[in-house]
Amino acid sequence: MQYGYFDDTHREYVITQPDTPLPWINYLGNQGYFGLISNTAGGYSFYRDARLRRLTRYRYNNAPLDSSGRYLYLRDDDANVFWSPTWQPTRRDLQDYSCRHGLGYTIIASTCHNIHAATRYFVPQNQNLEIWQLTLTNQRDTPAHLSVFSSIEFCLWDANDDATNFQRNYNIGQVEIEDGVIYHKTEYRERRNHFAYFACSEPLAGFDTQREAFLGAYRGWDNPLVVARGESANSVALGWQPIGSHHVPVTLAPHASRQLIFLLGYHENPIDAKFDPPDSQTLNKRTVQPILAIYLRREHVDAAFEALRAYWDRLLNTLQVETPDPHTNRMVNIWNAYQCMVTFNLSRSASFFESGIGRGMGFRDSNQDLLGFLHMVPERARERILDIAATQLESGGAYHQYQPLTKRGNDGVGSNFNDDPLWLILAVATYLKETGDWRILAAQVPYDNRVGSETPLYEHLQRAFRHTLDRLGPHGLPLIGRADWNDCLNLNCFSDTPGESFQTTTNQEGTVAESVMIAGLFVAAAKEMAAIAERYEGSTGAGGPCCEAANQMEATVLEHGWDGAWFLRAYDAFGHKVGSHECAEGKIFVEPQGWCVMAGIGIADGRAARALESVHEHLATPHGIVLLQPAFSRYYLHLGEISSYPAGYKENAGIFCHTNPWIMIAEALLGHGDRAHDYYLRINPSAREAQSEVHRCEPYVYAQMIAGRDAPTHGEAKNSWLTGTAAWNYVAITQWILGIRPTFDGLQIAPVIPPGWRGFSAARVFRGVTYRIHVERKGNGNAVSLVVDGQPIQGNVVPLASAGKSQVVVKVIQGK
Ligand code: BGC
Ligand code: NOJ
Repeated sequence: MQYGYFDDTHREYVITQPDTPLPWINYLGNQGYFGLISNTAGGYSFYRDARLRRLTRYRYNNAPLDSSGRYLYLRDDDANVFWSPTWQPTRRDLQDYSCRHGLGYTIIASTCHNIHAATRYFVPQNQNLEIWQLTLTNQRDTPAHLSVFSSIEFCLWDANDDATNFQRNYNIGQVEIEDGVIYHKTEYRERRNHFAYFACSEPLAGFDTQREAFLGAYRGWDNPLVVARGESANSVALGWQPIGSHHVPVTLAPHASRQLIFLLGYHENPIDAKFDPPDSQTLNKRTVQPILAIYLRREHVDAAFEALRAYWDRLLNTLQVETPDPHTNRMVNIWNAYQCMVTFNLSRSASFFESGIGRGMGFRDSNQDLLGFLHMVPERARERILDIAATQLESGGAYHQYQPLTKRGNDGVGSNFNDDPLWLILAVATYLKETGDWRILAAQVPYDNRVGSETPLYEHLQRAFRHTLDRLGPHGLPLIGRADWNDCLNLNCFSDTPGESFQTTTNQEGTVAESVMIAGLFVAAAKEMAAIAERYEGSTGAGGPCCEAANQMEATVLEHGWDGAWFLRAYDAFGHKVGSHECAEGKIFVEPQGWCVMAGIGIADGRAARALESVHEHLATPHGIVLLQPAFSRYYLHLGEISSYPAGYKENAGIFCHTNPWIMIAEALLGHGDRAHDYYLRINPSAREAQSEVHRCEPYVYAQMIAGRDAPTHGEAKNSWLTGTAAWNYVAITQWILGIRPTFDGLQIAPVIPPGWRGFSAARVFRGVTYRIHVERKGNGNAVSLVVDGQPIQGNVVPLASAGKSQVVVKVIQGK
């Protein structure tokens, strides 16, 4: 069953029924100001940091009810009835309804009582404000006398404190109202120099800023007193719950239309110009008034919207493909790339599954996110790499996360995840291949943001590399530390205290438990390091030792990390095997199969192929590849959080979608295009659209998890949007299945597509040059021959284009 459809021409998903299984959301904003918006206008906004600069309130654990949002109420003043044009919060029946989620904007339209209302929500480029552009049309043959009421509920900035510290917070709310603009200025009198504003383009009949005055005591957002009676209370909040609401009377002749603009924004004043006059306590509004004057005018708003569209077109045009499969095309060309950008912006901070309070930017997560977006915004990727590296510790290790507002590392969700540093190497290698910007390696970057500790970025990479070698366990495999990529495989935690965090508790010295997954990751990273070192330092540099370390680790994995039919997962704190046929539960895990094969381990002797067969046999389901089998049926003290989840959920044998593309890539490496693409389609959201009642999350973006075969809700997705799944699926399909792969020396074209495909074409911007690629299958197999601008070339790497060239045509014949 579907709840909408894809409009690929407009790059939109159109939801045609408001009561989707879960709120289906979208994001507004690209740089500083962000909003989450659901298909019924639920959600909230913040400036940079979802915890510390939250503009509006949201109550998460109401989902799917999803109430708190950017709500407008329409009232027919003749008939004394009112409704929400976005369905929520009144949930009155609508004659028609649609929600168009587009790239950086959402348009929610409906008709009720023959009044059509369409609201376009978006954030203009480089502005700290959001626009709600409401167009009302009277479809009646008689005049309509309407009232429009806007509403938002302000958050008192720190979202965590706002939700908990009521003894203080019920006393601090403050607002000002001037010329119909509502200014939210809680704590401005003291240490803040920022405020929020809520403005409207039209003359007002009234306003409200105190929640109880607007809703009425014991009434909810579905039935506000002010809307019911058709008249604002003109309340001025002091303490309690500051809100913003405007009342705009609108008369529409038969079949006439009118447009209203609402602005919600964030603004900072210079510390020495907070008040106007300076010795007063009155907010200085002069600095924000010019912005209001611009964006309350329709022509500027329309131009800002066009600029937003152009921005997304430019980003997405970096890679466009046309394959025989519509789900591949749609995800690569539109939604997967878009999700990668959103994930880049927000890491794991704010979604309907991440509260914006708990998690900052993950070190491991942000490095992997880079893989999916750096071709679209290489200059921002450069900045991100330097930010991440500046949180690295002098030991080469890493804080597990950092806060976007301060860019400083913290151990709020633990530290000593021994895989963390290695992801920096992969991210920088990918950046170098994409951009050729070798100068980044010389950039001076501090450790732990400490002034005076700077070294070149190159040294950061070497310390990351050595960090693993300095921490080897009894078998010569990398020690796992708190955990590796799998945060929940906590082999040194041993927690038996309720409520204790698995992510921060350590009850055992971590000198025995080892990770085969880190070993695979290390071999892959070491090979990248060797390639970088050879090019950067020449043959006498670190390249040789890196190769040796890779070979040594590979040998160790083959000796101690092979279980007979698949790669072992780990050794626990007692030196016992994890992920082995010897285990009662958790006999086979997906991560080491992916990473060891991606690192090239066991390809020569057939073990890689055997491991992938085992994945197919034991882990693959129609809904994707589960993380492990058999699921843990009880809590194992020595394994930690992984066994805390009911079977089939999350890390305990859920389909943890992030890991699936590792297997797709591994299959592609072995030349199995059919299997790689089959796995790709199993979790591709568009391909799952037809079973939305099972999948339940948005059909246009990946979710972190789909319930595994042990769960009663097998196939149900959770944790959509902010997941490394986005970047890795993008890499798997574009670089390994379609095979368009940046290398240090040029653009490699090595497709491993399903045998049934006749070919495909693609346009890829690489180092400023557009490559027009046409692949035609002429026979079986994956061998290719390339003709570049009419000239046959040796091998499958298109050499870098000569200066001044803007286009290169590549004809590829595949198969013999
Ligand atoms: C989740 C993991 C997550 C970790 C850190 C765990 O509860 O299952 O997926 O990475 O928390 O926040
Ligand atoms: C989600 C986390 O953000 C990511 O860092 C981790 O690798 C996975 N969960 C698996 O535990």
